Amino acid sequence: MGHYISHPDSIRCTLAGDQSGHILGFQSLRHAVADNPYDVAVGWGIIGTHIRPSAARRGVGRGLFAQTLDAAHGFDLTFIDATIGAKNAEGLAYYEAMGFREYRQLEGVVSKVYQLPS
Ligand SMILES: CC(C)(COP(=O)(O)OP(=O)(O)OC[C@H]1O[C@@H](n2cnc3c(N)ncnc32)[C@H](O)[C@@H]1OP(=O)(O)O)[C@@H](O)C(=O)NCCC(=O)NCCS
Repeated sequence: MGHYISHPDSIRCTLAGDQSGHILGFQSLRHAVADNPYDVAVGWGIIGTHIRPSAARRGVGRGLFAQTLDAAHGFDLTFIDATIGAKNAEGLAYYEAMGFREYRQLEGVVSKVYQLPS
């Protein structure tokens, strides 16, 4: 998790937990800087999500994205990139449901973008 939370380009990393304090998942939002490893346009946000499989499809991801959007607004982002394995049907469906739309395909991955209202 330190890779996400203390990363120098991190805008926000939100954790979701249950009432017993067990972590259910997290969502990271980073700022795309020059030469970022994802080849995302400089100035965009880069999102990553992982939910514990036993907690999937209970709205945890949706709740995390509300927090991430709040951070994105505060940071004045206009675009957020989500790059997903081309065979990851659940990941593709999740980001589509959050309002992301495909803008490119690279080898084995699909990239979707979310545009914040200006
Ligand atoms: C993809 C992932 C983030 C979804 O998180 P989640 O907490 O299960 O998502 P939610 O319950 O908030 O679902 C929100 C919406 O996304 C869509 N969705 C989520 N999982 C889906 C699935 N398995 N199949 C189809 N649609 C799905 C649905 O539209 C859903 O709304 P609904 O339940 O009202 O129909 C989670 O399954 C996960 O971490 N998977 C492994 C890692 C991963 O794929 N990360 C993202 C790509 S890198």
